Amino acid sequence: MEMAFTVRLLLLLVSSFFVVPILVFSQTDGKVAVGASLSASAGNNSSWLSPSGDFAFGFQQLENKDLFLLSIWYAKIPDRTIVWYANGDTPALAPQGSLVNLTANDGIVLTSPQGEELWKSETSVGVVAFGVLNDTGNFVLEDGNSESLWETFKNLTHTMLPGQDIEKGGKLSSQQSETNYSKGRFQLRMQDDGNLVLNTINLPTDFANPSYYASKTTGDLNSSTAGTKLEFNSSGYVYVLRENGEKFNLKEAETVSARSYYLRATLNFDGVFALYYYPKSSTGNVSWSVVWSLPDNICSMGVDSGLGVCGYYGICTLKDDNRPTCQCPTGYSLLDPNDPYGDCKPDFIQGCEEDELSPTKDIYEVRVMNNTDWPSSDYMQLYPFTADRCNESCFADCLCSVAIFRAETCWKKKLPLSNGRVDITLNSLAFIKVRKGNSTIQVPPLPSPGDKKRKNQTTLIRVGSALLGTSIFANFMLSAIVCLGFLLIYRNKRGKSNQHVLDSNLRSFSYEELEEATNGFKEELGKGAFGVVYKGILQIGSGVQVAVKKLNFVVQDSEKEFKTELNIIGQTHHKNLVRLVGYCDEGQQRLLVYEFLSNGTLASFLFGDKKPSWTQRINVAFGVAKGLLYLHEECSTQIIHCDIKPQNILLDDYYNARIADFGLAKLLMMDQSQTHTAIRGTKGYVAPEWFRNMPITTKVDVYSFGVVLLEVICCRRSVDMETGSYESAILTDWVYDCYIEGVLDAVVDYEVEPLQDKTKLERFVMVAIWCIQEDPSLRPAMRTVVQMLEGVVEVHVPPCPSPYSRTG
Ligand SMILES: *[C@@H]1O[C@H](CO)[C@@H](O)[C@H](O)[C@H]1NC(C)=O
Ligand SMILES: *[C@@H]1O[C@H](CO)[C@@H](O)[C@H](O)[C@H]1NC(C)=O
Ligand SMILES: *[C@@H]1O[C@H](CO)[C@@H](O)[C@H](O)[C@H]1NC(C)=O
Ligand SMILES: *[C@@H]1O[C@H](CO)[C@@H](O)[C@H](O)[C@H]1NC(C)=O
Ligand SMILES: *[C@@H]1O[C@H](CO)[C@@H](O)[C@H](O)[C@H]1NC(C)=O
Ligand SMILES: *[C@@H]1O[C@H](CO)[C@@H](O)[C@H](O)[C@H]1NC(C)=O
Ligand SMILES: *[C@@H]1O[C@H](CO)[C@@H](O)[C@H](O)[C@H]1NC(C)=O
Ligand SMILES: *[C@@H]1O[C@H](CO)[C@@H](O)[C@H](O)[C@H]1NC(C)=O
Ligand SMILES: *[C@@H]1O[C@H](CO)[C@@H](O)[C@H](O)[C@H]1NC(C)=O
Ligand SMILES: *[C@@H]1O[C@H](CO)[C@@H](O)[C@H](O)[C@H]1NC(C)=O
Ligand SMILES: *[C@@H]1O[C@H](CO)[C@@H](O)[C@H](O)[C@H]1NC(C)=O
Ligand SMILES: *[C@@H]1O[C@H](CO)[C@@H](O)[C@H](O)[C@H]1NC(C)=O
Repeated sequence: MEMAFTVRLLLLLVSSFFVVPILVFSQTDGKVAVGASLSASAGNNSSWLSPSGDFAFGFQQLENKDLFLLSIWYAKIPDRTIVWYANGDTPALAPQGSLVNLTANDGIVLTSPQGEELWKSETSVGVVAFGVLNDTGNFVLEDGNSESLWETFKNLTHTMLPGQDIEKGGKLSSQQSETNYSKGRFQLRMQDDGNLVLNTINLPTDFANPSYYASKTTGDLNSSTAGTKLEFNSSGYVYVLRENGEKFNLKEAETVSARSYYLRATLNFDGVFALYYYPKSSTGNVSWSVVWSLPDNICSMGVDSGLGVCGYYGICTLKDDNRPTCQCPTGYSLLDPNDPYGDCKPDFIQGCEEDELSPTKDIYEVRVMNNTDWPSSDYMQLYPFTADRCNESCFADCLCSVAIFRAETCWKKKLPLSNGRVDITLNSLAFIKVRKGNSTIQVPPLPSPGDKKRKNQTTLIRVGSALLGTSIFANFMLSAIVCLGFLLIYRNKRGKSNQHVLDSNLRSFSYEELEEATNGFKEELGKGAFGVVYKGILQIGSGVQVAVKKLNFVVQDSEKEFKTELNIIGQTHHKNLVRLVGYCDEGQQRLLVYEFLSNGTLASFLFGDKKPSWTQRINVAFGVAKGLLYLHEECSTQIIHCDIKPQNILLDDYYNARIADFGLAKLLMMDQSQTHTAIRGTKGYVAPEWFRNMPITTKVDVYSFGVVLLEVICCRRSVDMETGSYESAILTDWVYDCYIEGVLDAVVDYEVEPLQDKTKLERFVMVAIWCIQEDPSLRPAMRTVVQMLEGVVEVHVPPCPSPYSRTG
């Protein structure tokens, strides 16, 4: 009794101080009885241990996931390196609560918490008597005669352990990435011909590309030297065993003792097959070290070996430990930021279609990389050539993304690039064409960026991607799958970079394009001093409506000036301005492409059949005033419109006023002789200084605005001979008279709404009269006009607008 008690006390003491040894001792023979089970649960590393406790079989929780991998790992080292996992192709990831049972008929069975079978070992004929995890790391299912029915050493994943061999036809498969246990692209295969090879496969199929390493242990005529299997003997040597018993060591290198070190040979996710060691009795900070690795330089694997280590466009660089790293060229970035060995994609779009829009030199620049190459996939080879000419030739070629120059030869590359590598022995230059600035994605500017931005965003994206689609498909129809993949990415990218889209410059159109868009200049929208406006539809996406203005004057001055003016116009962004989308400048043809506004001109709005409401008119008045204020004071270059009139003011979907044709006066004035006649054409709105040889300032627009404001208030044309009386024919004179006489009711034709809002009515009339002062210096600036209309600034009683002509 006493004796037993002492022993138990001792055991208790021991167990409380040495938890791990106790666990180990509890599994002394490594045997697992049929009917035993383990459950996957967080905080409970349930496993079966080998006799020495070196290896464990069970559930290992994946990092940051509620999923468990049924696996075998080193149980005594902190990082619990996995050497085997259930089902290499698609690892059986078990949710919390899953069970693994050892059964007599099916061997190891993995079931989900719902009882669904996730994986089983599919033991060959026979009844399992027990399982045993022996100290080699092999989990063996044995029958009653201790015959092996199934073992993990024959169920290969990515790692080989001492004592394990690979028969002909067997292979190790890499995992997808450092943390993803799905099957990756690399294989180590013992071929039927006795050759041991490393090769890539084209997932999701098993199609094997030519090898990037081979032991060359195929047999000769005698066949006695052919390889039979790959062996990892218990002393730590890895070799191909030939038929004649000779050994072909994969590396003629010293190895470390399997007695004092854990050894494993793993095919890494990056394609490097390496022998690792780890001291068994480790104290302190130790980790796995490499004895040797294959191949010597995986970055230089043959170009027929498939994609290479890195994804498309990636550049492979070898680290000190013979492991590769991948990097994207400048201007390119990872398709999946979480997969540093994956494909890169350009941060921009390149295509021939877009190149027509503006000169290449404005869009692209070339980055040079030393000793970088993407062997193969050339579409053109130029010889003899110089580096500079190679650079220029690629730059000017819209199909060319990259050119490699070496030894007087220039290779232009097809897309997508693969097998990229850095190698100082190459002595080459890579010219990489990238978009200038910060990966702006160029898309033709589209109408109405302003208040309807959000609503129209989807249209914008669709238009963008459709445009892209054509260019990608037209140019790089190399691989449907790759193209499609990229397309999807671009689509997403487009969506995100909308801000860029709206800020981008004017698009240049060919005359042909506009002829087509307008259906041969068929539908006329209007005629102005500068030319005829036609309706058109740009064939991008589902079609974008535009107004195409054919300028009817020839600019004698240089191309440059025309472009300068256009740029000034192109830089204006205001919700009360009609947006210029692009232009055509081809020989004598000068056309401007504007956004199309559906609600016509202010003229038809005011003077049409149905009188707009007072509120709508006030809104329009404010819109015109603010648009002008912007042109005069707020945009980067002051613009004097010179031709403000209701025909030049358009209305958007929400009846907001949008000033059109601004900036054209300057363009027109390049041709001196025509200036005055053209502008004088719009009688009734023109400020007196036009006739008086006085300097033309922003005040001419204030004058015209005053006239338009009166028209808006009265819903009447500035000159109307059909009013029935001579006095009321000239609007400006008549309103002033009414104002002086205090009969504003007549001005608004006794309309109810404005008369109920008499203060505002009166204020507006007074502002208008200030604006139409004959003396430009008396007219307020547009900023003051806006403030007066808003009632922020007091409006004084205006003087008579034309004291001279009236009295005279
Ligand atoms: C851990 O697993 C064992 C065996 O499956 C079980 O008996 C025990 O209750 C579990 N403990 C926790 C905390 O889940
Ligand atoms: C389970 O294993 C992890 C990783 O080694 C360890 O941090 C944790 O303490 C273990 N949990 C238990 C209950 O043993
Ligand atoms: C696995 O073992 C558990 C617990 O021993 C048992 O409840 C379950 O029925 C077993 N599942 C199978 C498929 O044998
Ligand atoms: C491993 O074993 C499972 C179950 O028996 C089987 O489905 C799988 O194909 C085996 N894998 C290999 C590489 O032998
Ligand atoms: C491991 O298992 C095999 C097969 O059952 C057996 O032959 C070998 O002796 C075992 N090795 C150890 C170290 O237990
Ligand atoms: C692992 O990679 C495969 C293939 O890329 C993917 O389908 C799977 O979702 C990944 N698994 C995890 C856990 O990330
Ligand atoms: C065949 O084997 C014999 C001895 O094993 C050797 O002398 C002979 O050169 C071999 N023939 C060839 C073609 O390798
Ligand atoms: C393993 O192979 C090496 C090299 O061929 C040899 O020296 C060693 O004796 C072998 N060890 C065993 C246990 O067979
Ligand atoms: C262990 O060594 C690695 C590099 O060998 C180092 O990065 C790490 O900080 C070390 N950890 C500790 C706790 O010393
Ligand atoms: C690239 O090589 C050229 C000479 O061929 C050298 O002048 C230049 O400094 C190198 N650039 C880099 C980044 O190594
Ligand atoms: C380009 O963008 C990156 C990140 O978006 C930024 O760090 C960098 O300064 C930008 N470069 C230029 C030239 O704008
Ligand atoms: C912008 O959105 C409005 C409202 O959804 C719609 O009526 C209009 O047609 C859109 N314009 C374009 C160019 O898609």
